[in-house]
Amino acid sequence: MTEILVTGGAGYIGSHTCISLLDAGYDVIILDNLSNSRFAVVSRIQEISGKTVTFYPYDAANELELEKVFARHDISCVIHFAGKKAVGESVHMPIDYYRINLNTTLSLCTVMQKHNVKNIVFSSSATVYGTSDIMPLQEDFPLGECTNPYGWTKWMNERILRDIWNSDPSWSIHLLRYFNPVGAHSSGRIGEDPLGIPNNLFPILLQTAVGRIPKLIIHGNDYPTPDGTGIRDYIHVMDLAEGHVASVKKCLSDSGVNIFNLGTGKGYSVLEILTTFEKTIGRRIPCEIGPRRPGDVAICYAGTQKAETELHWKASRDILSMCKDAWNWQSQNPFGYE
Ligand code: NAD
Ligand code: UFG
Repeated sequence: MTEILVTGGAGYIGSHTCISLLDAGYDVIILDNLSNSRFAVVSRIQEISGKTVTFYPYDAANELELEKVFARHDISCVIHFAGKKAVGESVHMPIDYYRINLNTTLSLCTVMQKHNVKNIVFSSSATVYGTSDIMPLQEDFPLGECTNPYGWTKWMNERILRDIWNSDPSWSIHLLRYFNPVGAHSSGRIGEDPLGIPNNLFPILLQTAVGRIPKLIIHGNDYPTPDGTGIRDYIHVMDLAEGHVASVKKCLSDSGVNIFNLGTGKGYSVLEILTTFEKTIGRRIPCEIGPRRPGDVAICYAGTQKAETELHWKASRDILSMCKDAWNWQSQNPFGYE
């Protein structure tokens, strides 16, 4: 069986990806220090898939711990999710963000190289495009200026991984640029469980619906969009998970640095999401219009042709199923994994 190491595999995107990897017949090894997740996730992955995963509560920046994992397993490919991801927090804690998000990749690649494992799929973000006015965003667009330290860590990780390939072209590196992952596994057993007060639209809608947050503030209704609110490319997390399986499959037979947008290619406004979500739960969500949020762009959506052609993958779940599955998770687990 082909063994895949998933760093950050107990996290939101990682846990859903583990399900898709197990469904596709891969053996999964999760390495996660649980700094932003819980062990219960690992049990739930096993419960949903009916399969066993190997779990290491290790730090992805710790070479000694990584050594133990690579010595014990015959790893074919690594999916590297581990890291910190909160945009606002990164502005206040830049040292932590640069240290953790860069050291995890550097340590991981050091140990991978030592064990001659040279296939890696990296979690990047559409944030590396900066504030482009041209949509859809295509993989060959020049990288932009990021608006926060978190974004720069993704930008720098992409640079580091390219330089590793420049030094040794036998590496196969996939840089996956995610758009806005939302939703949950249809079982409602795993989903997004942000620690502290969330900043992203879906977690805020969900927590408002279960009464944990009093209301949604819409960040600006004066953007140059049909209803004045910001437009984003929301992608169901299970589509994203399946995109990783397609990427792993190709990464194992590729060499070089390959970049793929993982989005749907369609944009929805905040008001469109709000209306669909209200329809899903059958009631209104308290909300008010506030000022624009600094750093936000009006419109952002992916060019999807490259992933369709080269990965043979296309997102298929619509915005209604994103809302339904997100609500199924949150209504069954109003306080997440607690
Ligand atoms: P998450 O926080 O839910 O998952 C990250 C996981 O990594 C957590 O389980 C955490 O405990 C673990 N982790 C953190 N530091 C670690 C370390 N040093 N060693 C081992 N484990 C560690 O986040 P997510 O939403 O699942 O995101 C996964 C990846 O995708 C991240 O790299 C994130 O930056 C990237 N990404 C996420 C989004 C998004 O909107 N969620 C968008 C673009 C890119
Ligand atoms: N929004 C609100 N009110 C809120 C939260 C969000 O109106 O309380 C709006 C935003 O202004 C934006 C849209 O909802 O128009 C989506 O905002 P999110 O915060 O959910 O997502 P972003 O597009 O701002 O950010 C996401 C990820 C980042 C990533 C970025 C670029 O969270 O990690 O996409 O791909 F960097």
